[in-house]
Amino acid sequence: MTAAAPSVAPVTDPATDRAHIARLYRAHLSSGRAVLGTVLGGMLETASEGAWVYTEDGRRYLDFGGYGVFILGHRHPHVTAAVHRQVDTHPLAGRVFLEPVAARAAEALAARTPAGLDHVHFVNSGAEATEAGLKLARAHGHTALVSTTGGYHGKTLGALSATANPKYQQPFQPLLPDSTAVPYGDTAALAATLTELGRRACVIVEPVQGEGGVRIPPPGYLAEVSRLCRTYGAFLIVDEIQTGLGRLGAWWGMDDEGVHDADVLLVGKGLSGGVVPVAAMVATTAAYGPFSRDPYLHTSTFAASPIACAAALATVEALDREDVIGRAKALGDQLLAGVRATCAPYTGGLVHDVRGRGLLIGLEFAEEQAVGELILELVGRGVLVNHSLNATRVLRLTPPAIAREDEVRLFLAALAESLRVVATRVG
Ligand SMILES: Cc1ncc(COP(=O)(O)O)c(C=O)c1O
Repeated sequence: MTAAAPSVAPVTDPATDRAHIARLYRAHLSSGRAVLGTVLGGMLETASEGAWVYTEDGRRYLDFGGYGVFILGHRHPHVTAAVHRQVDTHPLAGRVFLEPVAARAAEALAARTPAGLDHVHFVNSGAEATEAGLKLARAHGHTALVSTTGGYHGKTLGALSATANPKYQQPFQPLLPDSTAVPYGDTAALAATLTELGRRACVIVEPVQGEGGVRIPPPGYLAEVSRLCRTYGAFLIVDEIQTGLGRLGAWWGMDDEGVHDADVLLVGKGLSGGVVPVAAMVATTAAYGPFSRDPYLHTSTFAASPIACAAALATVEALDREDVIGRAKALGDQLLAGVRATCAPYTGGLVHDVRGRGLLIGLEFAEEQAVGELILELVGRGVLVNHSLNATRVLRLTPPAIAREDEVRLFLAALAESLRVVATRVG
């Protein structure tokens, strides 16, 4: 009789063994993502709270990125509590009866959107909000899609037709027919296109382009886009998935421009409260008609789930109660001034431009390589930031409005050190 093989305790826990998780990524998720994760150090993110993300080794990273999601930080307590309650009562709806959490979340959001935008269609992602907006426009005969160069509206097929980046569009052509992109910030070009298309046009635009590299249009741009849409009978979708809910230091980018006559407003990212994915398409009564009359015209099993709507409702409440909008404005002004001062020695060389509004701040470099190097240097100093999907030379900051003074100081110190190191290698 042979002895049983001794049971050997694993040296590391497979759930947090970096090499094992990277192998799982390669085998089942994405080899490209596995490479990127490894280049960044191979850490595994396993927890989060407020402005901080924690890795499996107990380290913590100040999250000034998060792709614009965490205006309330990670796991905001008010949102987390609401979601816990919902999990314990009724997380997903049977969708036969009316459901109160979705109704109350819609009321709360509509109370905060510009006047007239009263009808809310909850979805699970930004791209789905875009899809809902594009379909609503089509239901009214606005079948010619006009987007802007550098704009980003998501990557599902319809949304991708408006995300005018050849890198993402090319492999999936043909996309929606009758789609065109006009230069962002150029109202003359838009007027020329609308002269041609007339009321067939559906215009989709961001108040500030986020993924486009924090591109801030000339003052009055959005107001003029809106006026042109009214003049030519075009349908206007304002995409505030990144800029809305306080990110720009106002509830909406539209507020800054005094635009109050969009047909559709898109909301996402921050609506999650940093807890549950949720986005929304918000429309006027006139625009929403087709979706309102026929609730099965555009549906999705998980859309408007009680758990997502509990997060959305609690998020809007927290934004209000904690004056997150005012804090985003004050913190944004302070951070932009700090970033400008920190970058000043490199301006005209390594750094091409620093710009921002509220808590959406972009650092444009002379060379693309600097963005990757800076991200790595900052990670090494315990700070997370993002690149921009449609602007390879722009590093993007989207910190939470709940960040404290000492956290801002920590960020600026890490940025100063990182710039010093990168400047010796690039530019
Ligand atoms: C302005 C804007 N619209 C739409 C989207 C797409 O959202 P999602 O990635 O949730 O599909 C994004 C995402 O970055 C965005 O910034």
